[in-house]
Amino acid sequence: MNEEQRRRQEAGQRQEKDYSQYFQTTYEPPSLKQAKKRGKEDVEIHYDFDIPEGMKNIGEGRKFLIRTYGCQMNEHDSENMAGILMRMGFTSTVDTEEADVILINTCAIRENAENKVFGEIGHLKQMKLDNPEKIIGVCGCMSQEEAVVNRILSKHPHVDLIFGTHNIHRLPELIQNAIFSKEMVIEVWSKEGDIIENMPRARKGKIQGWVNIMYGCDKFCTYCIVPYTRGKERSRRPEDIIEEVRHLARNGYKEITLLGQNVNAYGKDLADIDYGLGDLMEEIRKIDIPRVRFTTSHPRDFDDHLISVLAEGGNLVEHIHLPVQSGSSDVLKLMSRKYTRESYIELANKIKQAIPHASFTTDIIVGFPNETEEQFEETLSLVKEMEYDSAFTYIYSPRDGTPAAKMEDNVPHEVKKQRLARLNAIVNELSAEKNKACEGQVVEVLVEGESKKNPDILSGRTRTNRLVNFAAPKSAVGTLVHVEITEAKTWSLNGRVVEPAEVK
Ligand code: SAH
Ligand code: SF4
Ligand code: F3S
Repeated sequence: MNEEQRRRQEAGQRQEKDYSQYFQTTYEPPSLKQAKKRGKEDVEIHYDFDIPEGMKNIGEGRKFLIRTYGCQMNEHDSENMAGILMRMGFTSTVDTEEADVILINTCAIRENAENKVFGEIGHLKQMKLDNPEKIIGVCGCMSQEEAVVNRILSKHPHVDLIFGTHNIHRLPELIQNAIFSKEMVIEVWSKEGDIIENMPRARKGKIQGWVNIMYGCDKFCTYCIVPYTRGKERSRRPEDIIEEVRHLARNGYKEITLLGQNVNAYGKDLADIDYGLGDLMEEIRKIDIPRVRFTTSHPRDFDDHLISVLAEGGNLVEHIHLPVQSGSSDVLKLMSRKYTRESYIELANKIKQAIPHASFTTDIIVGFPNETEEQFEETLSLVKEMEYDSAFTYIYSPRDGTPAAKMEDNVPHEVKKQRLARLNAIVNELSAEKNKACEGQVVEVLVEGESKKNPDILSGRTRTNRLVNFAAPKSAVGTLVHVEITEAKTWSLNGRVVEPAEVK
């Protein structure tokens, strides 16, 4: 161990762990009940990840494909898994037929997300029968659910491997076992709260990068499965995050997104330092990377220090994703969101005052158990009052094991669908209006690549995350350009690149 590693190890009361103690020879099902428990034991941070000897060449001549569902956290986990597989000698492919290992990184947030995954598992059956050497693995949030694991065991025996969100670093051993074992390999730790640093990572892009700042969630909103599937809230050490951001900056990345289920709770669990998201952002502000985003913000922990740091601007973009879920304080209470309609609006106003050009986006659930027409209308009125740039809107989906799933519900599904449509109409109208207001403005755009519809047109995003399409040479990809908005659409903007001299 070198000096640097020793220093870090001491800073977080970390110890090296013998992973062999976790090696499961007998299958133990995951348990949501176990996952709910929040232990007092210290979070251990491991800096000693390595591909074990003898497993570094397993992938030679073999290809892998990872299909990812769910949120950015899952996208980023897939980058870690790809990194591990590549260090084992595998190469990546996008062709399902050609892949020797197929991993499905799943999301459990709503029933339709789960249905899609079961559909896909079903589709892969024939392929596995035709080619028994193929390894099919299921990982991510769904594999943390006992009912899902049981369903795969009984109905989809062609799956070779199931592993959980806390077992990603065990991928080398798990893949080895799956290749050589005749049985389905299952390893899902229900309640684990460690942080594994220095896992290899194969990032998807060279312009934008994800950076985890914390893992897990302790909020236990009554409808939500995430605290059960992702374990307890635990923050990475600031020095590790800053080092990763610096590394990305040195490698030419133009934008990073700091990730966590509730980034505003960052640092609360770091016992030896008094350090929060505001402090972290203050440090990251000084790093030479043009744009820094963060997601997701829970309104409850958004503190004044963070607002004042964000107000200084620079590379910290003026886009705040602030999920509200409902405009009714009574529903918010049942959801256990721990803020009211009024306190949410007060917070938003405080942010608007400090950052006048801030754009707001949100997440909303309609049809929470027993939501009345009046309560739903409070959501509509809040959306209008907040004038969101855009919103992700969902029909409430009961999740097994969560408190809301036990609530009786008198709202028919048809009514929920109508509410969603009514809400979407308003959200879209607002998005269109907000976009219209951009016409004639010159905005800074980070060029991401060819537009999806037309390869002659490039597309990119503004600091406030609006999609802009414009004509420019391919060499502009990965650079920041100024674009005058010539035409607004509901979900995107068209524009023309202007020379620096034209920028007012
Ligand atoms: N940690 C984030 C949310 C992550 S999940 C936050 O609290 O802001 C993303 C979104 O999915 C949530 O904001 C919520 O709107 C939605 N969601 C979560 N559980 C859901 C459920 N059971 N049914 C419908 N939508 C749900
Ligand atoms: Fe789910 Fe609430 Fe945690 Fe967000 S804060 S992940 S909605 S429990
Ligand atoms: Fe889905 Fe898990 Fe993310 S449930 S939304 S993939 S944390």
